[in-house]
Amino acid sequence: MAVVIERGAGVSAGYPDAAYLAAGATLGSKGEAMGECEIVLKVRPPAPDEVPQLKEGCFLACLVQPERNPGLLESLAARKVSSLALERVPRISRAQKMDVLSSMANLAGYRAVVEAAAAYGSPFGAQVTAAGTTPPAKVLVIGAGVAGLAAAAAAKALGAEVRAFDTRAAAREQVESLGAKFLTLEVKESGEGGGGYAKVMSKEFIDAEMALFKRQAAEVDVVITTALVPGARAPTLLPRDVVTAFKPGSVIVDMAAEQGGNCELCKPGEVVDFNGVKILGYTDLVSRMAGTSSKFFATNLVHLLVEMGISKEFKIDLESEVVRPALLTHAGERLPPPPVKEPSPAREVKPPPADAKPKQEQIMTPTRRAWGATLGGMVVIAVLFALGRFAPRDFLQHSTVFILACFVGWQVIWSVSPALHTPLMSVTNAISGIIVVGGMLQVGTHLNAASILGAIAVLVAAINVAGGFLVTQRMLKMFHREAPAAPQKGHP
Ligand code: NAI
Repeated sequence: MAVVIERGAGVSAGYPDAAYLAAGATLGSKGEAMGECEIVLKVRPPAPDEVPQLKEGCFLACLVQPERNPGLLESLAARKVSSLALERVPRISRAQKMDVLSSMANLAGYRAVVEAAAAYGSPFGAQVTAAGTTPPAKVLVIGAGVAGLAAAAAAKALGAEVRAFDTRAAAREQVESLGAKFLTLEVKESGEGGGGYAKVMSKEFIDAEMALFKRQAAEVDVVITTALVPGARAPTLLPRDVVTAFKPGSVIVDMAAEQGGNCELCKPGEVVDFNGVKILGYTDLVSRMAGTSSKFFATNLVHLLVEMGISKEFKIDLESEVVRPALLTHAGERLPPPPVKEPSPAREVKPPPADAKPKQEQIMTPTRRAWGATLGGMVVIAVLFALGRFAPRDFLQHSTVFILACFVGWQVIWSVSPALHTPLMSVTNAISGIIVVGGMLQVGTHLNAASILGAIAVLVAAINVAGGFLVTQRMLKMFHREAPAAPQKGHP
């Protein structure tokens, strides 16, 4: 398979053309790279003048963003391009490795903290020095999705005191697991939309949120806003009067700048100074770490191509739960969104044809079932009675133990949930130990069937005991924490 790279495509990200040549790719102009290939991978959507350069019928994967590029899908369909919008790859566990939104949001959240730390006039972490002390910076993160959580983690790592707010209740646990404080509102309204995303909140909720942020403004030094609702303008959460309440020297990083901004005074791509409060509206946070973001983006694309069979036979599978939702044009047409899969309905019970004879099972009434059970019970009692009357005493004793062992074994194994099977093994060690003792008693000095069975029981149970200890040991190791390194001699 031949790979053509647009000449100079990776230079600003730190990947020179020579590196691609060394990896076996060839270099070409943008027109050659787009016009000669059956599979075209890009970051941004194709510009109107780029669409005619694409090879007719090719497969294109990029951030298509049709809502921001009217007419793009029509021109791609006219060129019979199969276009896959990377931003629409479904957010299911299996597709996480292809999710460019997550990998980019994660980096952007980190970078937002780096930019905030650079713009803020003090260290994020508390300083205790001979020359004086400073308290930790107080950072508020609004919107605790992928970017917000990455920002909270990065700010925490720099030593800041972090608090966060989100409309989705699920975010609380994630925020708290980072050691940050989750802020709450009196107004109760669920913020959960579909697929883990947020929904547009009521005016009362947004008003209550703004009041919360106004109270926070007097306390916090840095705010990072990431609040977004798919398909809607970013909610305005920091209007002018809230920004007025911030101390001079505070920093606001508006990560929603490109989608209209969470801060009313934010200007996309610019830094605004409002009464000493710096409002950073950078829209290129990811590009400010181009080396890593290119690597992550490319890895997401590689996983997508592997999903589509590139290593054997590349195929656009319209049945694929990953590919189909993201496919916007195919075979010269704009594709409608895929049908939402209903949970499989309960087995349909067809009414029997009018002339069909009812099955025996169907005509079994509760009275007949009760009769059946009584009859079965009577047969069992009769068999037990006959055994008690005629079987030798030893046989009865052993069969009672055998039946009880079957019952206990069944309850111990089948009634325990699979997640607990490993700890269960440790318990069965004890049972195997009893079997070893029993087996040894049976071995005796004479060679007969009982002694052979006893020896087999000792062997099998001994394997079980040893295996059980090994597995338990491995389990304990998983929870074992590394002891902190001992301080070196001569150092405090
Ligand atoms: P996003 O970028 O669309 O939104 C960012 C955050 O803003 C969200 O947490 C949202 O709840 C919050 N938000 C919206 N309106 C707000 C308001 N008025 N006030 C405060 N916060 C507000 O979402 P993102 O970060 O791309 O993903 C959101 C969630 O989706 C994740 O936290 C996760 O639960 C889920 N997800 C699942 C994945 C999977 O593979 N299963 C992958 C990625 C995300």
